[in-house]
Amino acid sequence: MPAHWRWSRSRLQKGDGRLQKLRTLEDCSDRFPVTGIGNAWSREYYDGPFYLVAAPSGRPAISLVFVQTRDGNTGASNPEDLGGGPTDKHLIYEGLSRVAADGVLAGASSVGRSVFFTISEPQLVALRRDLGLPRHLAQIVMSNDGNFDLSARIFTTPDVPVFLLAGNQCIAKVGADVRRRPWITMIAIGGGLPGTFKRLRDEHGIGRISAVGGRVTATSLVDAGLVQDIYLTTSPIEGGEPDTPWYVGKRAPKLDLIVSKRELAPSPIVFEHLMIG
Ligand SMILES: NC(=O)c1ccc[n+]([C@@H]2O[C@H](COP(=O)([O-])OP(=O)(O)OC[C@H]3O[C@@H](n4cnc5c(N)ncnc54)[C@H](OP(=O)(O)O)[C@@H]3O)[C@@H](O)[C@H]2O)c1
Repeated sequence: MPAHWRWSRSRLQKGDGRLQKLRTLEDCSDRFPVTGIGNAWSREYYDGPFYLVAAPSGRPAISLVFVQTRDGNTGASNPEDLGGGPTDKHLIYEGLSRVAADGVLAGASSVGRSVFFTISEPQLVALRRDLGLPRHLAQIVMSNDGNFDLSARIFTTPDVPVFLLAGNQCIAKVGADVRRRPWITMIAIGGGLPGTFKRLRDEHGIGRISAVGGRVTATSLVDAGLVQDIYLTTSPIEGGEPDTPWYVGKRAPKLDLIVSKRELAPSPIVFEHLMIG
């Protein structure tokens, strides 16, 4: 482990053990089709309303959510090693970025055995309830080839709907098992991603999606023109798996700043909400 990792991580653990407030650096939200949400607690900690970009006509709104290291890496077997700390985890990642969403989406490689996408902070659980949304979000997994474990927690929680966006190989591999679990809906992606997401919206009421990666999944969504914006946290440390930016395709999208914030902490995270052009 490089020395700067050890230093930075021990500082994070020692000094910033709990959620800290953010302070706004720049707010350009009046140039974009956004709506602000929040309650007194979230406005205090996030320093203002949290913006949602309007959904495009006929499709769900899809927002990416990533934490990257200072040198731009997003890959790590344990994403907490990327240095986002409790403010990113509880206020942004398991919090505001999904508080108004109908579902959380991840690629098969980011669905470990114990993964279950939820909201942890009680004040944001209350905000979700006040928005008239159910306690839990639908869990959405994308897979072409079925490289995931059907006994993982995300697939074995019958109270919470799961949507498996599945390629032909995946359907052949797990289709029979999935049909025995009525809480899992399998949607074939053979007809292309735009049609798949239109079906999710029209037939299953999924109008807003928080897409949490990883980079391969995020890139395929961006390249298909399905993503409106990204909530991007940059941590104060270097590290992560080398050469793992959140976008790994051929046409890096144009990004326009909606709002930027900095954590009130000795080693602050920087948060940016960016429109994807
Ligand atoms: N920094 C962060 O915020 C963050 C967030 C999430 C994950 N991560 C980290 O990122 C790493 C994983 O990222 P990754 O990019 O390697 O994998 P990933 O995007 O999580 O998953 C890739 C897999 O998802 C499926 N997939 C992706 N796009 C698809 C499409 N268009 N159609 C059908 N299936 C599709 C495929 O599954 P099949 O192989 O089954 O076909 C593919 O192999 C891990 O280290 C994880 O911890 C970091």
